Parts: sequence; C-alpha cells; structure tokens
Amino acid sequence: MKFFIDTANLNDIKEANDLGILDGVTTNPSLMAKENITGKENIIKHYKEICHIVHGPVSAEVIATDYKGIISEGEKLADLHDNIVVKVPMIPEGIKAIRYFSDHNIKTNCTLIFSAGQALLAAKAGATYVSPFIGRLDDISADGVGLIAQIRRIYNNYDYDTQILAASVRHPMHIIDCAEIGADVMTGPLKAIMQLAKHPLTDSGLEQFLADYAKGNK
Ligand code: E4P
Repeated sequence: MKFFIDTANLNDIKEANDLGILDGVTTNPSLMAKENITGKENIIKHYKEICHIVHGPVSAEVIATDYKGIISEGEKLADLHDNIVVKVPMIPEGIKAIRYFSDHNIKTNCTLIFSAGQALLAAKAGATYVSPFIGRLDDISADGVGLIAQIRRIYNNYDYDTQILAASVRHPMHIIDCAEIGADVMTGPLKAIMQLAKHPLTDSGLEQFLADYAKGNK
C-alpha cells in the first residue's frame, strides 16, 4: 500500500519524507488555509515547494465547480510539475472534467467520495485515484472502512485501473484496516503514520537492552 501524507505543512511533509516511506502528498483548500497559504500565487508556489520535497504524486485541488473552470484550472495545475494530480470534486461537472483529463493524459484524484456509486462513476470516467473519506463517514456513524471494502470488490469485479486512495484517515487502525482490505493508497496525517511505529513492548524492550548493555560496558 502506498503512503501519502494529507497535509500542506512543509515540516510534516519533510519529516515523513525523511523516514523514507512517503509515496506522495494530498492537500485540499482547508489544509492550505490551515497553513495560512492564501492567494493563487502563494498556493501555486506552495505546490511547487511540495513537489520539490517529495518525488511522488501531489494532489492539487481545483476551486472551480463548472466544467470549463475545472478544465482551465486543472490544466494550469498539471503544468506546474509532472507529479501534480488534479483533484476534482465528485459532482456531475467534475465527472465530465475527469473524463476530459483522462482523455488528455492528466492524472486526477476524484475527491469527496462517500458512496460506492460515486466511486463507480469516478472509475468509469477514468479517474486515476478515488478518495473515499473514511473518517468523515465514521463521524456520522457510517462505516468508512466498510466503504473501502465495497469499492475494492466492485473495482476487482471489473478490473478498473482507478486506485483506491483511502482518505480522511484519523488513526493507525484505519491504516491497518485499509491495508488488510487492499486499498491501493492511504493518505493520513503525520501523527497517524508515526503511531504505526509505536508499541509499549518495543519501548520497554529497548530500554532493557540499553540498560543491560550499559551494565556490562561500564
Ligand atoms: C483527502 O484527500 C482529504 O484531503 C482529507 O483526507 C480529508 O480529511 P479530513 O476529513 O480529516 O479533513
């Protein structure tokens, strides 16, 4: 499973990248705003900086919601760097735009997916990635991980190339569950990724090893 980090924070991106396990980055307008990156020029500069740090797909989201606007914005974003993936919302105009981008070899990430039907439409339009938001589904007492499993079965039935990018990941168990199901990618915050490394027996075991070494090497 590929690991993407879901942030616009350059320090977090660098830290995950330095671990040597990072395959890509996803951002969205809210994550940009959280880092106080505002105005078209600053946002574009920020995407370029992210592409400079990480050598893998970087999702950049369009703001337009009409077909022509999505196409024009998406083409400009795609021109920024070879690794840019145009993130397009799951709306009818977005589906049409994904078909256009797919026909013009521009990679897309269909975002704000909350149902299997939406994921099916995105795959049929030729999306490179589909982003089901599992944490937000859990937040309303729905089954986020269950949706990943359902989309996996559907895509397997028809050999769709669209990659399942489990998004809105909140904790390490989301990552494990998605890996068991066979999500192609997960995107989550640095905290959830780092929590995968933690185990109390690792900490106590290491403490003991170091103490025993110190005893014998005074
Ligand atoms: C997906 O790419 C989104 O950026 C993201 O995962 C949304 O997560 P949130 O529900 O934590 O905002």
